[in-house]
Amino acid sequence: EAAGKSGYPHYMLKEINEQPESLRQTLHGRVDALAGKVDLPEFPPGTFEDVEQVQFVAMGTSHHAGMYAASMLTAHGIPAHAYMAGEYADCPPPADGRTLVVAVTQSGETADTLNAVRRARSAGARTLAVTNVVGSSVTRECDDELFIRAGPEIGVAATKTFTSQVAALTLLGERIAGDVTGVASAGARDLLAALSELPGDVQQVLDDGTAREVAEALYGCDAYFFIGRGPAYAVALEGALKMKEISYEHAEGFAASELKHGPLALVTPETPLFGVLTGKDETKTLNNLKEVQARGAPVIVVTTPRHASAASFADYVIEIPETEPEAAGILANVQLQLVSYYAADLLGRPIDKPRNLAKSVTVE
Ligand code: G6P
Repeated sequence: EAAGKSGYPHYMLKEINEQPESLRQTLHGRVDALAGKVDLPEFPPGTFEDVEQVQFVAMGTSHHAGMYAASMLTAHGIPAHAYMAGEYADCPPPADGRTLVVAVTQSGETADTLNAVRRARSAGARTLAVTNVVGSSVTRECDDELFIRAGPEIGVAATKTFTSQVAALTLLGERIAGDVTGVASAGARDLLAALSELPGDVQQVLDDGTAREVAEALYGCDAYFFIGRGPAYAVALEGALKMKEISYEHAEGFAASELKHGPLALVTPETPLFGVLTGKDETKTLNNLKEVQARGAPVIVVTTPRHASAASFADYVIEIPETEPEAAGILANVQLQLVSYYAADLLGRPIDKPRNLAKSVTVE
């Protein structure tokens, strides 16, 4: 087993460190950065021109990747929403032949996600699987498939597959938006250039020791909160999910706008709060963070140098390399993976096999 971990103490740490390479595999041959074009042979230009709305269905970490993608598509003016697949199967939203339902599932075997796909098909929707596993059940249930090519993931907590899901969904989103609107998005060239550089940026994050220092300073508190807006909200939810899964600490992610509507009552000096600041203008989230700090909570900001002003009041700044906002969430998430990993390790948790959880949930 030690050999399988290539010298790392846990599969999770190995898989976190594999991300520059797994991301390269995801992007390989799919980005023409010079021409500013997505190159997805599975889906040539025009494939999605009839699509009127996109519904993502997924669970757990894959649901967060779907939320991230829905928020990017919405920004392109495409009606898009991410549903928890179990909810979708129980209470399906309106869908028809002009609805594209994208099932995001690492394993391709999650029962709730497969059921959501069946509901979507029975409504006449077009279905597309975004998965890591060739030949998995979801590929048999969907009309089309896009493989994320992250390689096998052994740790129960998903890490490199989230990164690859978001990267693959970004490419798919650019293709869908281009087909539906008839033009490549204004920022497509910059975004694709940023994606090409992302594996190197992830390596920089892995070489940075700040996440570990933050975990050492703050592990063992009462609870951990994470906030963000847009795609960064999905990252906040994923940061909290990782923390609860492997450290068993109470952790919750919130939309930054939600903070004042309840969660603020939970904030004390024993509840560190992570702000994911990856958008273009984060003035509002910065104000939210100041309010939290005024109540005595340690504030940790995960951000690019673009929002360096946060350093003037935050207790900790975990920096990520400057990149396009749509790509920055991936980097912020890698930092949060590291925080959770080191916190769980300091608490002596069985990181690769957390209690009560399974890698793939094949019952509803
Ligand atoms: C379980 C795993 C999670 C995973 C989720 C969805 O809860 O523990 O890590 O995100 O299932 O799995 P899928 O294979 O559909 O992505």
